[in-house]
Amino acid sequence: MNALTSTRLDALLSAVAAAAREPLARRPAAVAEAMAPHLAAPDLLAGRDCPCCPDRYVRHLLHADPEGGYAVVALVWRPTQMSPIHAHRTWCAFGVHRGVLTEHHFAPGAPPRPMGAHLRHPGETCHGPADPDLIHRLGNCSAEEAVSIHVYGVPYERFGDQVNLILG
Ligand SMILES: [Fe+2]
Repeated sequence: MNALTSTRLDALLSAVAAAAREPLARRPAAVAEAMAPHLAAPDLLAGRDCPCCPDRYVRHLLHADPEGGYAVVALVWRPTQMSPIHAHRTWCAFGVHRGVLTEHHFAPGAPPRPMGAHLRHPGETCHGPADPDLIHRLGNCSAEEAVSIHVYGVPYERFGDQVNLILG
């Protein structure tokens, strides 16, 4: 891919960069809306190597905001791979690029109480603020590999300790 060629991913990242400057209260929704038109494009990750991992879902960095305000990652899910039950320590927005993910919701508690599940299809987005009571788990309950795009409001180097509040 010629470095001067604008790609579908460039378009998504430009839209996300603008949306990430919205006031904090509107930012997660704005970022989700910015991603939505590009998510299901078959060429979104053209030229990007995003392999799956046999043991767990895996994260690939697509873009880190130079000012550290957010980072954009692709998550690759093989069938049966799931996140832990978690809430978020930062705002977030995600959408499905390819395949189908299942999002389980939980009510706060010890342990968190299952509240139901929704299928998330290509092009669909979700978003939320930092909130220890917004508890969910994403997973691939289908028979095909799935890829989702996620934006979190912290520098990529802090993803390990400032994104997920693990609850189960
Ligand atoms: Fe999450």
